[in-house]
This record gives sequence, structure tokens and C-alpha cells, in this order.
Amino acid sequence: MQVAFYKHELTPDDAKSMADVLATPFLTSGPICKKVEAQMEGFFNVRHALLTNSWTNGAIATLLALGIGKGDEVIVPAMTFIASANVVEILGAIPVLVDVDPDTQLMRVSDIEPALSEKTRAIIPVHLYGQMCDMKAIAELVKSRKENIAIIEDCAHSFESELNGEKPGTHSDAAIFSFYATKNIACGEGGAIITNNDELHKGLLQTRLHGMSAGAADRFKTGSYNHWDMEQLGVKANLPDLLASLLPKQIDKVYEQLAKRKILADRYRKAFTNSQVKCIAQVKGALDAQHLFPVGVDADIRDEVLFKLGEAGIGATVNYRAIHTLKFYREKYNFKPNDFPNANAWGQSAISLPLYPSLTFAEQDYVIEMVKKLTVKKLEKAAS
Ligand SMILES: Cc1ncc(COP(=O)(O)O)c(C=O)c1O
Repeated sequence: MQVAFYKHELTPDDAKSMADVLATPFLTSGPICKKVEAQMEGFFNVRHALLTNSWTNGAIATLLALGIGKGDEVIVPAMTFIASANVVEILGAIPVLVDVDPDTQLMRVSDIEPALSEKTRAIIPVHLYGQMCDMKAIAELVKSRKENIAIIEDCAHSFESELNGEKPGTHSDAAIFSFYATKNIACGEGGAIITNNDELHKGLLQTRLHGMSAGAADRFKTGSYNHWDMEQLGVKANLPDLLASLLPKQIDKVYEQLAKRKILADRYRKAFTNSQVKCIAQVKGALDAQHLFPVGVDADIRDEVLFKLGEAGIGATVNYRAIHTLKFYREKYNFKPNDFPNANAWGQSAISLPLYPSLTFAEQDYVIEMVKKLTVKKLEKAAS
């Protein structure tokens, strides 16, 4: 049996929304983006949403708008996708890595506190796999400090997530989403920033588009051409209407799809109870977006299990090896594996299993059977 790691939910029917865009003058950011931004403002109950062409460029635009750059420190968890740290590095700022909870892989206040310094300008909590960090506690920590520290949520895995009934954007300056090809809501490449901060939003309108004072659609707003100026440095981060047109239906269906993801995730959790396979601990009060389903296996056998799953036709991957163990960061900052022991241990034992709404029970049962077989057999071998 072949089981893909990921299958998107878009169908040829969705091409209709793209064809509608082709009939308008604006292939790039225009009325469809504005419509989706309004939809997101309603969904998250926030003052502003801005679509971007990726999480990464959205984060760069946000850091630029906040004036974060050379020599500034930004706190980032060591267990996340590299983009969370790279955006800081690209701007000449310093990603100050911190460890994470060994059971949830989420950054905690107790991880952040010792890393704060007078140079700290921002914290990027990552809602890894779909469960949210304790944003209320992080916001309280920031409030208790005299420094001006921004909170930027990495919501690449957490569009639908909530913690104690609160969505992303409630306790931060900005929350940034990804609509990358494999995300719960996907349009190939894309992202969005939400914020309740009017000043930041004003800056983002420019830093999202080269720092220009008016985008293409706005230059002709009054009927005749208006000059634009460049008031600050920006990046090219706007999303084209063509891709934005794929989003509205997915946003409308997000909870329907989440219900299917949850059934599958619960089946995995049940199947791996009392086994050698470790699942991520469930956070009390969390609505989990169930973006990924990583499991932890013995580090000595992880790569072999991964390889054998591939041989058995099962798409499996690693999310993620810890940031500080990757060559660039390891060499630049002279990191040792145990500088962040929890992130390091998980990075050596994690395997992500297929999880998407159209995964069938039969496919999932095959994945479960293979994972159990490979982990039990290997452990027996290790013992003998
Ligand atoms: C946790 C996390 N942050 C950031 C990103 C970057 O998103 P994008 O590809 O939209 O730039 C990803 C993408 O996989 C991610 O998983």
C-alpha cells in the first residue's frame, strides 16, 4: 500500500475561483486579497489582517516594521522550522535560542525568562504542530519588563488553534500564518499577518511592499495616477489575487476539516498508548489544529524506521531537527547538542506520520501497524 505524507484538498473546482481572477485587471494583490483579509479579520476578531506571499516574508515585513535589525535580540525556540530563526538572522539581528517543554515541544515562560536581556526586542513563540504556547503568561512576562519587547506568534501550524477559548492574535503584537502547500489551509505559497496594533499595521502596509507608500491597486484610487514614495525599507511580501482566491472556501470549511483531522489524530494516540512510540502531550484547554502528527521513537533507531517506512510506501518525515544542531547555526554560534537538551532529544527521535482529512482508516491502520512493527522489532534487537 502507498500512503502519501500529505494530500491537499484542492480540486479542479477550485480553478473556477482562479479563472474569475483572470477576468479582472489585477492578477496581483487587489480586491480578492481585500476580501480574504476582511474574512480573516472576522474569523480572528482582530482589527487588521494582511495577506503575504509566505510566513517568512510576512515575518520579515513585521520585523522591519518594528524596526528590529542589527544587534537586536529575538527569542526563538530551538525546536521549530528554520524559518522562525532565519528571518531574525537575515535582518542582522540575533536569534536567541531557548529550549522547549520535553512533552509538548512548546516554548514556556520558564524557557524565555533567563534569555531576556536589555537587547531583547521580540519573542517569537511557535505554536508547534497545532497547540498554542501559553500566550497569556508570555504577555504577562513581557508586561513585567521595562524593555519594549514585541511578541510575534508563529502560527504556521495554528490557524484553527485556541487556548482557553482564545485565538492567535489575542496577546501578541502580530500573529503570522502560512498557507504553504502542506499547511491546513494552503494555496501553494502564501501567508497572513493579523494585528490589533494600528501603528504596526500602518508600517506593515509599506514594509510588505518594498516600503512603498501605495501598492499598484491603490495608485489609481482617485482615478488618476498618484506618485508613491518610499519611506522605509521593505520586502516584496504581497500575495497575488490568483492565489488568494483559493483561500475563502478553505477558511469557511476549516472546522469541518479539523474534525476529520482530530478523529485521525485520536486514532493514532489510542493506537500508540502503552507502546514504545511517544506522542506529543495534549495541552489542557487547547483546541489543537492537529497540523502534524509527530511521534518519538528511540533515537538509535529513528533513521532506520524512517527509511523502512519509506520502503513500505509510507510518506514520513522529520519535523524538526533542532535549530542549533543544523550546520549554519551550529558553526556560527558554536552550539553543542546539549545546549538545548529537550529540543535536541526530540529532534533525534521525531518522525511525522501522515495526517490529512482524506487519509483513510485503512491507510492509517497500515501506518500504525508498520510503525509498531518497526519499533518493537528494533528494540528487541537492541536488547539481545
Ligand atoms: C513553524 C513554521 N514557521 C514558519 C514556516 C515558514 O512558512 P512559509 O513557508 O510560509 O514561509 C513554516 C513552514 O513550514 C513552519 O512550519
